[in-house]
Amino acid sequence: MQGLPWPAEDMSRRLLAWYGRSGRDLPWRRSRDPYRIWLSEIMLQQTGVTAVIPYYERFLAAFPTVMELAAAPLDKVLELWAGLGYYRRARFLHQAACKVVSEHGGCFPEKLETIMALPGVGRSTAGAIVSIAFDRKAPILDGNVRRVLCRLLAIFGDPRSGKVEKHLWSIAEMLTPEDRPHDYAQAIMDLGATVCSPRNPDCESCPLSGLCQAFWQGVQEQLPQRGKRKAVPLVQQVALLIHHDGRYLVRRRPLDGMLGGLWEFPSTTVPEEKTSEAAVRALTAGEGLSAVPQPLGTVRHAYSHFRVEVHLFTCPGDSCGMIAEEDHRWLAPAQLADWPLHGSHKKALGLL
Ligand code: ADE
Repeated sequence: MQGLPWPAEDMSRRLLAWYGRSGRDLPWRRSRDPYRIWLSEIMLQQTGVTAVIPYYERFLAAFPTVMELAAAPLDKVLELWAGLGYYRRARFLHQAACKVVSEHGGCFPEKLETIMALPGVGRSTAGAIVSIAFDRKAPILDGNVRRVLCRLLAIFGDPRSGKVEKHLWSIAEMLTPEDRPHDYAQAIMDLGATVCSPRNPDCESCPLSGLCQAFWQGVQEQLPQRGKRKAVPLVQQVALLIHHDGRYLVRRRPLDGMLGGLWEFPSTTVPEEKTSEAAVRALTAGEGLSAVPQPLGTVRHAYSHFRVEVHLFTCPGDSCGMIAEEDHRWLAPAQLADWPLHGSHKKALGLL
């Protein structure tokens, strides 16, 4: 494996000096509490800083410690997460808090391997927690860092392929300094998020441009290279907004599946050979409703691996037999606004 074309300290010195001048003041940077750092890193895994800040603050107001998070019902956690997306993160967060309490007496673990054994924490997130909370050297390789390193060393090839990924981890290890790993971790993530952006990187103000192989070759816009993207399938669904006395029927999804534990209007996927009208008639009959559902509109939503079009129908629910069923509720629109509905059905509220 190739080494570095310059001493690692040249890079970290320039980066840390830049961070001192230009680093962002973010709420989780005002604390060394590993619980807070962990929470912020989980929220930041698939969501940008601006969107995360209000969620982070509300979450901490509700659960100031890992003990309080572990003691909370999952529903409350999902309610506070609603809108951030990738809900598996919230379920893992809750499971991990329970594990910290049951296996570590409520004291957040310090060792990389122990942190990696918590649900929802991979090698990069664990590295970020170890560096930021405990100021100990541990490499990080999230999306931003991957981009910075691919450019800095002009690494071609898909950075998510096994071979390139392994190479990037070893580069990350070589570059992470023993001195000030806390600042280094935030600095490299900030550089990727602000200066070394995916499009139009601001090489003029980059502290590393003098070392950057991609900059010298003029290929920074071409890196990192992308693997072939698969076409994203489009799934058709129907959802029934069953109403009675100004309230709507919602149900909770099973805990173990996709969007587990979140709430939704009764809904189903439209089979390829069927129309949405036929699918909604089958759904209505299945719920024991005699009224004919009326079309209300369509909402669209994107998940990581597919997109959905949800065709919404309204239907009076006087004869609905599900009122007493477990995991179902009749809720007024004002209550639904704060209820942990999953994303596409939250959008449906806009049409009510
Ligand atoms: N992205 C992931 N972790 C981050 C952090 N600690 N600060 C800014 N952006 C991040």
